[in-house]
Amino acid sequence: MTESPLRVGAFGNATSLLCRECGATQELGPFYACAECFGPLEIGYDFPRLTREQVEAGPKNIWRYQPLLPVPADIQQSPNMEPGFTRLLRADNLAREVGARRVWVKDDSGNPTHSFKDRVVAIALSAARELGSKVFACPSTGNLANAVAAAGARAGIRTVVFVPHDLEPAKIQMTAVYGGSLVAVRGSYDDVNRLASEIAGEEEGWAFVNVNVRPYYAEGSKTLAFEIAEQLGWRLPEQVVIPVASGSQLTKIDKGFRELVALGLVEDTPYRIFGAQAEGCSPVSAAFKAGHDVVRPVKPATIAKSLAIGNPADGPYVLDVARRTGGAVEHVTDDEVRDGIQLLARTEGIFPETAGGVTVATFRKLVETGQLDPDRETVVLNTGDGLKTLDAVAGRVAPSATIDPSYSAFLSTGLA
Ligand SMILES: Cc1ncc(COP(=O)(O)O)c(C=O)c1O
Ligand SMILES: [Zn+2]
Repeated sequence: MTESPLRVGAFGNATSLLCRECGATQELGPFYACAECFGPLEIGYDFPRLTREQVEAGPKNIWRYQPLLPVPADIQQSPNMEPGFTRLLRADNLAREVGARRVWVKDDSGNPTHSFKDRVVAIALSAARELGSKVFACPSTGNLANAVAAAGARAGIRTVVFVPHDLEPAKIQMTAVYGGSLVAVRGSYDDVNRLASEIAGEEEGWAFVNVNVRPYYAEGSKTLAFEIAEQLGWRLPEQVVIPVASGSQLTKIDKGFRELVALGLVEDTPYRIFGAQAEGCSPVSAAFKAGHDVVRPVKPATIAKSLAIGNPADGPYVLDVARRTGGAVEHVTDDEVRDGIQLLARTEGIFPETAGGVTVATFRKLVETGQLDPDRETVVLNTGDGLKTLDAVAGRVAPSATIDPSYSAFLSTGLA
């Protein structure tokens, strides 16, 4: 990446990069691996005093939390997708059906490109701009591709997106339509990710959002934690169910909750974090159940393509969070994923993509198996939109009847 001098305040209140393994610190810049031990880096801050009122006076998007993110104070002046502040819906019908008491759905399908990835990409875009990158790129399982291509178009930066060739057509088309370069790779996501790392090492000035600017990118998922707490009236939920692919989102929601507590913006009440995977790609769930600290990579085979990461970078950290908070990591079959999609659609009028189906079905399984307390409040994340993965329910839903345009024909259906 280009070594241009950073402007003052380029990364807001962020002060350094911290190694998640050995704790070593290094200066902010285009770095993602520890200089001492090659461990992954995360952002360290010197947070100012911040009040609820200051946050509430901010814009109705993720920039209301700018002081807690590695972005400059003038972030709103640069063109971006303005994601976030998606709805948190009370889901009483879902709760009744699953046998739980108080359930909320955090519906991130309402973001500009219809998944939570707009959050992380907005931070990565800011980092790419501040670092002087000339290309905005990513390896993706689909949703990230959509978000990078759209954000790059709006910001006027060249985009190059790499995806497995067998992605859902909607995710391919919805990336290509924004006009950047889209490279379909004959291989799995893990192959695509390896290729991206290689290119990132060879090419100057390429910001791969989830590779070499990953520490910045990952911070975007904290805004889910901030919004959930704010929307609940500035308090933490008791239980949260989160889908896991690389595991980044889950670990950063935990980081977000802890930062809110440290800043005194919410009370320090206990919360449990649960991870959700599809059986055909459940390396983190398998490690959790086996009591392992490391995650053994798998070859994914599931309809939940957005979660099909066989070698998850944040897998061990997901295990830490689930164990520390008294949560769990569980998985469900593809048929249960389809059931989960239909369950959320039919009970709450929310049509999730396969990742949401994984999460809803896992929520139900966690209740059934006694791992999640049905009497405690639970927030279930819907991170994507069912319109992108229509095939998942194609064989299961159809018109109730197809008729000639006459009243008698309608009567003959028995639907009157
Ligand atoms: C809709 C959706 N939900 C969840 C995830 C999981 O995100 P993470 O890789 O941070 O675990 C993804 C990842 O691509 C996704 O597309
Ligand atoms: Zn280190």
